[in-house]
Amino acid sequence: MKARLEQIRERALSQIKGCETAEKLNEIRVAVLGKKGELTDLLKSMRDLAPEERPKVGQMVNDTRAEIEKVLEETKAKMEKALREARMKAEVIDVTLPGSRSELGHRHPDTIVQEEVERIFVGMGYEVVEGPEVEKDYYNFEALNIPADHPAKDEQDTFYVACAPGAGDLLLRTQTSGVQVHEMEKGRLPNRMIAPGRVYRSDEVDATHSPCFHQIEGLVIDRHITFADLKGTLAEFARELFGEKTGVKFRPHHFPFTEPSAEMDVSCFKCGGSGCRFCKGSGWIEILGCGMVHPHVLEMSGIDPEEYTGFAFGVGLERITLLKYEIDDMRLLYENDIRFLKQF
Ligand code: DAH
Repeated sequence: MKARLEQIRERALSQIKGCETAEKLNEIRVAVLGKKGELTDLLKSMRDLAPEERPKVGQMVNDTRAEIEKVLEETKAKMEKALREARMKAEVIDVTLPGSRSELGHRHPDTIVQEEVERIFVGMGYEVVEGPEVEKDYYNFEALNIPADHPAKDEQDTFYVACAPGAGDLLLRTQTSGVQVHEMEKGRLPNRMIAPGRVYRSDEVDATHSPCFHQIEGLVIDRHITFADLKGTLAEFARELFGEKTGVKFRPHHFPFTEPSAEMDVSCFKCGGSGCRFCKGSGWIEILGCGMVHPHVLEMSGIDPEEYTGFAFGVGLERITLLKYEIDDMRLLYENDIRFLKQF
């Protein structure tokens, strides 16, 4: 019996020593010390011993049990400690590592220019307003003195929106000028507003055309507004946008909704007016259309042209962006290539 005990002890201790996981350790405990374990079996067989031997052997079995239990506990504690240490090592955070930078978005050059134009006019007391992109024929053409048979209607190749019979003609606005009409109809006078926004024309895409682009409309209505106000305002605008030395020139032009009408050129900010590749040798660059609001346009929107006068202007946003940043192809503005956009 003593030999059996010694055998159990040795095997258990060597198994514990070679044990690598807590589960294995528990299996050993059950196999040796459990209810059906080897040591328990051995205790049961004590009844075969002579009565005087029983206390001695019993003591030996208990000692062995205690020893194995102790080694089991120690091994378990060691395993847990090693596990904890490994985890702490794995989870350590190196606070000295440089952070990974997430790239910030960027303002589009069109947005930068639009905000600049808004800043200039807001500084002169203008309000920034918006109008609908899907527009009634009336606002885009009729009310701007462009009747159905007017050739200007063909000049601006229009996208019409199919709609229910009787709903009237709906279209994607070809110009922001319709916002003038919406503003005038509100009847708030005097009025000083600019209206930036998308416009649509059925144009093929090339270096200077896109079916969708942006305009900024301007409108001033008050008593005693004259062409001198128009000139002074737009000359100041050009100086703020392109620099103090910028000169302006007004050329007679025709728009159905203004009378008289003009186009405004700015002196070439590249060569200062002496003529270069940028201004095609002329020294001047055309940047906007403008004029005194046609009395008939005022009248149609319920404003008395005997009492009120006004001026209006329309700027192509992309045109300014391309000039200001010396970009030679409009398509770059719409492709959203991050390498391009990053440069502004
Ligand atoms: N709507 C014109 C266009 O798209 C631009 C324009 C010209 C607007 C003269 C105006 C203006 O308000 O007075 O070509």
